[in-house]
Amino acid sequence: MTLLPEDFQNAIVLGDCLDLLRELPEGSVDLIVSSPPYNLGKEYESKRALASYVEDQAKVLAECSRLLSETGSIFWQVGTYADRGMLIPLDIRFFPVLEDLGLIPRNRIIWARQHGLHAKKKFSARHETILWFTKSDSYIFDLDAIRVPQKYQNKKAWRGENKGELTCNPAGKNPGDIWLFRNVKHNHEEQTVHPCQFPEDMITRIVLATTREGGVVLDPYMGTGTTAVVARDQGRVFVGAELDPGYHEVALRRLAGEPNTEGVFPNLKTLRDWCERVGADPANYRFDAQTAARATARSQSRIFPESHHLEEMERRLAYEEDCFAADLRGEERPDDHFTGGQVRERTSEEPAQLFEEAI
Ligand SMILES: C[S@@+](CC[C@H](N)C(=O)[O-])C[C@H]1O[C@@H](n2cnc3c(N)ncnc32)[C@H](O)[C@@H]1O
Repeated sequence: MTLLPEDFQNAIVLGDCLDLLRELPEGSVDLIVSSPPYNLGKEYESKRALASYVEDQAKVLAECSRLLSETGSIFWQVGTYADRGMLIPLDIRFFPVLEDLGLIPRNRIIWARQHGLHAKKKFSARHETILWFTKSDSYIFDLDAIRVPQKYQNKKAWRGENKGELTCNPAGKNPGDIWLFRNVKHNHEEQTVHPCQFPEDMITRIVLATTREGGVVLDPYMGTGTTAVVARDQGRVFVGAELDPGYHEVALRRLAGEPNTEGVFPNLKTLRDWCERVGADPANYRFDAQTAARATARSQSRIFPESHHLEEMERRLAYEEDCFAADLRGEERPDDHFTGGQVRERTSEEPAQLFEEAI
């Protein structure tokens, strides 16, 4: 039984989220997952702009806290605020706001990226963060719904009373707090016209871990509707707001999963899903952010799971550190696992995506 009024069930309201939040009843939401906007305007001196931004966000978060059910969770995803060479991690400013609302911190998740802008006067930023707070100690955490493979799945104890038995849970392990869902950019099938979308798999992990079927999932800043699509696909109820009419329209089209009157879809994923469902040829349709001449079927592309990107990143970081150590000691650098240390052209047999990620 949901406390959320019927009018708001599975709705994305066009308008300011604060207006929506104030209308919803206390305790009516099981999960809030969002990434707020943080282009902080330039009308004040920057320090003041940041303080005033956090003040405004505190009003939104106070409403969010009121809306959370006793078993509820909030996941707030932010990056950094950059200004004139300064870099301020925004989660540091949000943490005390959430704590002051009486919410309980559970995790600070690092969302790592393999690519990004190359900084010249500081280390290049390669992560953002997701703060997870709960309303109480009786929160939902369904680990079994989100386990990932163990590194040594079949390893057995070789002595002691458990000799011969598996040393780890065969159902898989806890995914940990370093996540590497690939950023949604031009070659990602979920890319809409929005510049900073959530990857659907990342939101699915959060929804499955912290809600039950039929639970209510709120995103105050829906963008082009990733949270809504995931909640719907996982049998949860969604609600949220989006201020920009263009993004709002895309979100509704993404949820509908149908082409518009010109045969255009909001992204490649929606196009492929629809074509698979009705048996149509993807090459006859287009999607908003399309750059290639023709849309391709999913069977012609390889979509890598998070574990692939995580392993790639681990290998790459280890390789880079080995090179640094070799340079320090005047030794020969080790071979790169993929390119042999050389950046080379992709051969026609190699999937473009894999190659791009390896270099
Ligand atoms: C970081 S984006 C969210 C993207 C979203 N996670 C997705 O996957 O598409 C933030 C969104 O908040 C919207 N926004 C900004 N201020 C808002 C407000 N006061 N109320 C509702 N939406 C707002 C922006 O237009 C933008 O689309």
